[in-house]
Amino acid sequence: MNGLKSEMNVTPFEVTGVDDYNKLVTDFGCTPMTSAVLDRFEKLTGHNVPLGYRNFVISHRDFDKFLDSIENHEPVYLYTGRGPSSDRMHLGHLVPFRFCQFLQSALSVPVVIQLTDDEKFIFKEDLTLDRIGEMVIENIKDIIACGFDPTMTFIFTNTGFIGNMYPMVLKIEKLVNLRQILNTFGFSVDGTSIGKIAFPAMQAAPAFAETFATTLFKSSNINEIRKIRCLIPCAIDQDPYFRVCRDIASRLKHHKPAVIHTKFLPSLEGTQTKMSSSKPESCIFLGDSNKQIRKKINKAFSGGQELLDDHRKYGGDPNKDVAYSLLTFFSDTNTCAHASASFKNGTMSCGEMKSLAADTVTRSVSEFCNQRAALTDRTIERFTHNRK
Ligand code: TRP
Repeated sequence: MNGLKSEMNVTPFEVTGVDDYNKLVTDFGCTPMTSAVLDRFEKLTGHNVPLGYRNFVISHRDFDKFLDSIENHEPVYLYTGRGPSSDRMHLGHLVPFRFCQFLQSALSVPVVIQLTDDEKFIFKEDLTLDRIGEMVIENIKDIIACGFDPTMTFIFTNTGFIGNMYPMVLKIEKLVNLRQILNTFGFSVDGTSIGKIAFPAMQAAPAFAETFATTLFKSSNINEIRKIRCLIPCAIDQDPYFRVCRDIASRLKHHKPAVIHTKFLPSLEGTQTKMSSSKPESCIFLGDSNKQIRKKINKAFSGGQELLDDHRKYGGDPNKDVAYSLLTFFSDTNTCAHASASFKNGTMSCGEMKSLAADTVTRSVSEFCNQRAALTDRTIERFTHNRK
């Protein structure tokens, strides 16, 4: 091991050196995802989980209980979100939203999507609320273009929806003490603004159905609403927020929200680091041209042998191959199985794998861009209006 290797650090505010997801799952106390649980999801919904998502979902909390609710036809909803900190999202942002959209279409359930404009204002030194407001508009379009159902999807910003959320936020704030927040998020007392201390209640609130009691979920019986089970698909770095939720759920007379954790989309430079806007070469932006995408994938880290002759002889490792990992997200199971087998036995070269991945990714990104370009104000309004 070389001395330069950075230590694994995963918090909602910083992710570095992610090289051992199993350790992360154990450290966080999450339950590893098993294929049996995903098979059960498929059986219950009649929808196959695409291979990319199977590899992408690493662990969960109470996902089995959530599936019990599905089996018993009890009401449920999904909750996810995004911190608006860049105008254009990249593939690493797209995949979690597409995963959530897949869950919505398989389960046919409401989705609430929180845009934490407040979080980015509080945590980022140099961002103004006006600037964040501009990013919010662009991000909402990106999210809608993932194919969510307008009749069952509510996208909101925290500054916009606070009037509705505040009663729930207050209930949460009353139950969580300072020590718990300092410990869970690793904050120190000095240099931590009260905004940072208070924010977790904002991200926690939508995990409780009562937050939407006068908007999404219409029932005169609050106890009925409190029984609606929440599932949160999120990247594993967001888990601390939902640990806080689960701690206080019973005192709020709700079920503990279930969580399903995903890995980070690998950087083009290798499967050990995540795709990040701060390294444009590691990253496929949703506005990149087909030519740019091809060029980036061609340079991506390969799991094959350096010399073609060696590759033909010894084959490569698809699990280390970034092009192959992209393929698993954007292509069907048969294509992936075939690519994986022929890469392993050397009949498919590194270049062929890259070109197959580039075809698939450019097709998907073009589809996404067309959908986004076709969005009207009327459509955006359908997703964002406050359903009173
Ligand atoms: N804090 C998240 C981010 O910075 C955004 C977010 C809010 C979120 N609520 C969520 C993510 C629920 C997943 C699930 O990206």
